[in-house]
Amino acid sequence: MPKPLNHLSARFHVNGGHTLKVYKECHGYEGAQKAMAMQPDAVIEEVKASNLRGLGGAGFPTGVKWSFVPKTTSVPKYLVINADEGEPGTFKDKYILERDPHALIEGMIIAAFAIQAHKAYIYIRGEYVQPMKRVRAAVEEAYANGLIGEKTLGQDFKLDIVVHPGAGAYICGEETALLSSLEGGKGQPKLKPPFPAIKGLFDCPTVVNNVETIACLPLIFRNGAKWFADLGSEKNGGTHLFCLSGHVERPGVYELPMGTPLRELIYEHGGGVRGGRDLKAVIPGGISAKILNADEIDVNLDYDQIRAAGTMLGSGGVIVMDETTDMVRALWVASRFFHHESCGQCSPCREGTGWIHRVIDRMARGMGRIGDLDLLLDVSSNMEGRTICVFADAAAWPVQSYIEKFRAEFEEHIRSGRSIIASESKGCLTPEHAVIPAQAGIHLND
Ligand SMILES: Cc1cc2nc3c(=O)[nH]c(=O)nc-3n(C[C@H](O)[C@H](O)[C@H](O)COP(=O)(O)O)c2cc1C
Ligand code: SF4
Repeated sequence: MPKPLNHLSARFHVNGGHTLKVYKECHGYEGAQKAMAMQPDAVIEEVKASNLRGLGGAGFPTGVKWSFVPKTTSVPKYLVINADEGEPGTFKDKYILERDPHALIEGMIIAAFAIQAHKAYIYIRGEYVQPMKRVRAAVEEAYANGLIGEKTLGQDFKLDIVVHPGAGAYICGEETALLSSLEGGKGQPKLKPPFPAIKGLFDCPTVVNNVETIACLPLIFRNGAKWFADLGSEKNGGTHLFCLSGHVERPGVYELPMGTPLRELIYEHGGGVRGGRDLKAVIPGGISAKILNADEIDVNLDYDQIRAAGTMLGSGGVIVMDETTDMVRALWVASRFFHHESCGQCSPCREGTGWIHRVIDRMARGMGRIGDLDLLLDVSSNMEGRTICVFADAAAWPVQSYIEKFRAEFEEHIRSGRSIIASESKGCLTPEHAVIPAQAGIHLND
C-alpha cells in the first residue's frame, strides 16, 4: 500500500511538535529566511511555479491571487488567515493549528512579505479552544524570539500577528463575511467584485488564505517550487490533508499527493467500508459537494479531475456512506444544516433553504408526495447562481445530486409513507441520529 506522506503532517504526532524548539530542530523558519532573501515579486513567482492551489475549498492558484494585490498603495495591506473550518466533514486545519502552529506562522511571514503586508490576522473558529491556545502561545513565542514584530527574522520588515476568535457561524468562513466579522460587523457576505485583494479588510487590499494553504509555504521555500509541484498532479501541486470520515474502518486525516485515487483513500488508507459492508455513496469535498454513488469513485482527488467528474474537492472532507445509509435521512441532515446556516440576505437562499428543509422534513415524517422530488429540484435550481455568495449553490447541490442518484429510494420512501421519526426514540431527528456527523471525526486518528 502506498504510504501517506508526512510533509505537512510531519509534526502531528511528535511530542512538543507545537513548540518553537521542536519546530527549529526540523529546519523551522529556514523557508522564510530564504523567501526574505528574495524580492517580493520573485516570492510570488515561486509560489505560482509550485502550483499551490488554495486549500480552503475553491482551489484558486495562490500565487495568482497574491499578484492581484496592488504593488503600491497609500493604505495598508493585510493578510488574513481563514481558520474558521466550518465545513461539515472537514477537520484538517485543526491539526495544523493545534500541533504545528509555527508552520502557519512561518507561512504567514512568507505570504506577508510577498504582498508587503505588515499586519496579519488569524481568524480562528471560536469552538477551537485548544488550537486557539496553541496558536496564541506560538505567536507569543515568535514575538519573544524576534521571529515576528518590528524586525521580522532580524530583517528590516515589520509584521504583527493578531489572533481573533470567530463568531460561530458557518458563513463566517466565506471570505467577505469573515472580513466583515473581523471588522466587528455582522458576518455576512458581500458582492464580489471588488475582491478582497483590491478592497478587503477596512477597505484595504487583503489576501485571505486558508490555514493549510499557508502552512505549505515553508515546504515550498525549503525544498523548491519544483519539488512541491512534482509531489502533486498536473496544475495541482503538493499534498493535501484529506479528512476521511463516516462509515470507514479507519477514519482520520491522511496526507496524500494531490491526484490520489479516491478508491485508494477509502480502501487502502481508510481500511475500506466499516464491517466489510458495501459502499453506497461518497461525498468527496465536505457536505456542500455533490454526492458520488459507489460506481463513480474511480476518480482522482484534485481540483480539476474531481470537477470533471461532476463534483468538487472542496476542503477535502471525504464522507463515506455504507449500504445501510438512509438517503432521505442523509439529505434531511444536510438540508437542516443549510437552513440553519443561511445568513438570510438573499431571498432565493433564505426562502429556498427553508422550503427545501420543510419539504424534506415532511418526507422524513412519512407525509411526502411524489411531486415533492420535482418540487425540490425546481426550488434548488432557482437558488443556483442568483445570490451574493455560493452558499445557496452549495445548499442546492446535495438536493440535486441525492435525488438524481438515488431517486428510486426517495420514491420508495414516499410511497411507503414510512416515517423515519417514528422509529426514533426521542420522536424527532436530532444531529446525534445523523448519518453525516456534523463535525465528523475531529478527534479521530489521534
Ligand atoms: C459558505 C462558505 C464557507 C467557507 N468556509 C471556509 C472555511 O471555513 N475555511 C476556509 O479556509 N475557507 C472557507 N471558504 C472559502 C473562503 O471563502 C476562501 O475562498 C478561502 O478562505 C480562500 O483561501 P484559499 O485560497 O487559501 O483556499 C468558505 C466559502 C464559503 C462560500
Ligand atoms: S447566498 Fe445565502 S448565505 Fe450567501 S449571502 Fe445570500 S443569504 Fe447569505
